[in-house]
Amino acid sequence: MNLDFATSAKAENPAELNDLEIAHVAYSADNIDIKYAHLALALSDNPDVRAFAQTMIRDHEAVNKAALELLDKLGAQAQDNFLSQTLNKNSEKIITDLAALRGAEFDRAYAANELAYHKAVNELVEHSFIPNIENEEVRALFKQGLEIFKVHEGHAEMMVKKLK
Ligand SMILES: [Fe+2]
Repeated sequence: MNLDFATSAKAENPAELNDLEIAHVAYSADNIDIKYAHLALALSDNPDVRAFAQTMIRDHEAVNKAALELLDKLGAQAQDNFLSQTLNKNSEKIITDLAALRGAEFDRAYAANELAYHKAVNELVEHSFIPNIENEEVRALFKQGLEIFKVHEGHAEMMVKKLK
């Protein structure tokens, strides 16, 4: 786990979140990757980076739409929690740092962040969320999402190598 989630409080263990909190973390994580992608489209001229960013926007918007539809069907609302807040806070600093870069420097930093971010979130989804989700339909949606996000991780890894 690469993100700074670690805290001593038991209440702040990702594995102890309920389904609606997990849904909120996933929704927040999707929106963060969409924000990074919009920044890349605003700042990068690199065709590979731009294509990757477009894919992130398309896929994460689609997953969030499916999640909202499922929550709606279940008559439930996602619940804000410590992990969503930590992710959002971390992303604000990353966006500030990335936004100061230009050209190849931006492209490399964006690609490295996409790789690290997908790795961390995929690990969280695979090992802390999917084994603990109680609702079958919610779990199925997370399994589908994880497959897509693993493809993103592989794609990000190639992008990092190509930009070196
Ligand atoms: Fe992604």
